[in-house]
Amino acid sequence: MSENPFREGLSRRKTPEPCTIVLFGASGDLTQRKLVPALYNLTREGLLSPKLAIVGFARRKKTNDQFRHEMLESVRKNVPGFDEKDLFWAEFSKTIFYQTGAFDSAEEYQALAVRLDDIERALGLPPNRLYYLATAPEHFGTIVRGLDAARLARPRSDPDRAGWARIVVEKPFGRDLESARSLNRELLRVLEEKQVFRIDHYLGKETVQNLMALRFANGIFEPLWNQKYVDHVQITVAESIGVEGRGGYYDQAGVLRDMIQNHMLQVLSLVAMEPPAALEADAIRDEKVKVLRALRRIPPADVDLHVVRAQYGAGTILGRLVPGYREEEGVSQDSRTETYVALRLSVDNWRWAGVPFLLRSGKRLPKRTTEICIQFKKPPLSLFGEQAACTVSPNALIVNVQPDEGISLRFGAKVPGPEIEVRQVKMDFRYGDSFGVPSPEAYERLLLDAMSGDSTLFTRRDEVEAAWTIMTDILEGWGRSTTPPLTYAAGSWGPEEAEKLFSGHEGRWRRL
Ligand SMILES: NC(=O)c1ccc[n+]([C@@H]2O[C@H](COP(=O)([O-])OP(=O)(O)OC[C@H]3O[C@@H](n4cnc5c(N)ncnc54)[C@H](OP(=O)(O)O)[C@@H]3O)[C@@H](O)[C@H]2O)c1
Repeated sequence: MSENPFREGLSRRKTPEPCTIVLFGASGDLTQRKLVPALYNLTREGLLSPKLAIVGFARRKKTNDQFRHEMLESVRKNVPGFDEKDLFWAEFSKTIFYQTGAFDSAEEYQALAVRLDDIERALGLPPNRLYYLATAPEHFGTIVRGLDAARLARPRSDPDRAGWARIVVEKPFGRDLESARSLNRELLRVLEEKQVFRIDHYLGKETVQNLMALRFANGIFEPLWNQKYVDHVQITVAESIGVEGRGGYYDQAGVLRDMIQNHMLQVLSLVAMEPPAALEADAIRDEKVKVLRALRRIPPADVDLHVVRAQYGAGTILGRLVPGYREEEGVSQDSRTETYVALRLSVDNWRWAGVPFLLRSGKRLPKRTTEICIQFKKPPLSLFGEQAACTVSPNALIVNVQPDEGISLRFGAKVPGPEIEVRQVKMDFRYGDSFGVPSPEAYERLLLDAMSGDSTLFTRRDEVEAAWTIMTDILEGWGRSTTPPLTYAAGSWGPEEAEKLFSGHEGRWRRL
C-alpha cells in the first residue's frame, strides 16, 4: 500500500494549469486558517504547478513582506508538523503578493488588473485566474461587478478573452430563496455558470465523497437502498462548541441556514440520489437536484408538526459551565434564532416513498460528531421469539463523517452459550486503519478541483435554489409562529420534543 493513497491518487491526476489565485478577504480568518495552509500543502506535495501566484486583496494597507509574514504565522499555526527549518517556505513565499483595495472602488480593480499583469509577466504565468471570495456575502455582487468593469471576469463571450477566470464563492449563499435567486442573477449577469464554484466544504470531505463509492462501487448495498428495505435515515451534525465569539453573525443566521440548507441537504442528496449516467459534474448534479426537487414541501402553517427548533440554555460541557445562547456576546436577549433543529423530510419518488429522512443539528451538544445512519427494516418474522428479537435493534449502516471517519454495519449475532440470545455487534471500517493516513483537509481537494475546472463537488445554481425552496417555507412558518423556540440545556442532546418526529415503530434518535 502507498504511504499516502490520497496524495498518490492526486498525483495521478493532471496537474492544474499554472494560475494566479486572488484571495478577496486576504486578512480574514478563512484565508489564514484554511486557504493559505491548503495552498501551502498542495504546493509542497507537488500537486500544483510550481508556476503559481497568490495575491491577497483586502482593505488594510500592507506590504508584500508584511503579508508574507502573516501567512507564515498562519501556516505555523495551521499546518501540523510545519518545520521551521524547511527551506520550502522561502520558495513558496516568493509567490505571495498583497494588493490593498476596497471592494467598492473601481480604480482599485484597475490597479489589481495592472498588478496581475505585472506578476504574470514577472513569473511567466498565463492569464489564468481563480478569484476566491473569502468575504462576507454582501460583498459577492460588488466584487463580481468590480471584476467585470475592469474586464477581469472574462466570460467566454468576451472576444479578447485569454486564459480562464473562475470564481469561488463562500457560504452562506443567500439567506432565503429570494436572496439566493437574486445573488445567482447578479453572478450570472457577468459570468457563465461554468465559471462559478459555490463552495460547500462538506463535499470536500472524503467520507462524504465515499458515499458514492459505497453505493455505486459495491453490489451489496444498492439492492437494499430503497423503501422496500430501509426504514428511515437519520443524519446528525452535532457540535459541542457554542457561537465562539461570532454571536453577532450567528444570531442573523441560525442552524437552519448555517448547517441544514447547505451541508445537510447536500449529504441527503448524495444518500438518496439515483446512480448518475457518468462520473461527470453535470451528470452527478442532475441526480442530486432531482432529489432536492422531490423533497416534500412543508406548508408554513404545519411547520411545528415537522420541525423542532430550540436554543441552548446554560449547562455543563466536558465539566465546564457554559452560558446560555441569549447570554452570549453579540446575541440579542430576546433572540428567537435557533441553535438546534430537528426535522422530518420526505423524498417523494419511487425509491423513497414512505421513508422518512430525519435530520438534526445543534450547538452545545455533548460532542462533535457527524454521522449518517441508514436504518433497515426489521425481519418480517421474529424467528427467535419476541424476547430475543426485542433486545436487538434493527440493522443499521452508519457512515461516520467526523471525527472518526469510517463506516460500520450493525447486526445481530448469537451470544455464545446454550441459550438463543441475540445481541447487536458491529463490523467496522476506519479510514485511518485501512489507509494508514488521516483524510486530507476538505479545502485542499476543493481548491485543487476549482483550479482544474472540475465542478463536481460544487453546488450548481438549481441545487442551491431547490434547497432554499424547502428551507424558506420553514423560515416563513417560524416568522408567522407566535411560539418561541424551545430551550435545551447545553451539554444535552437537545429538547425531548425532537423524539416526537418519529412515529411509533421507527424508534428514536440514536444515542451517539
Ligand atoms: N472563517 C471560517 O472558518 C469560515 C468557514 C466557512 C465559511 N466562511 C465564510 O467565508 C467568508 C469569509 O469569512 P472570514 O471569517 O474569513 O471573514 P473575516 O475574518 O471577517 O474577513 C473579512 C475579510 O474581508 C475584508 N474586507 C471586508 N470588507 C472589505 C471591503 N469593503 N473592501 C476590502 N476588503 C474588505 C477584510 O479586510 P480588512 O481586514 O483589510 O478590512 C478581511 O480580509 C464568509 O462568507 C464566511 O461565512 C468562513
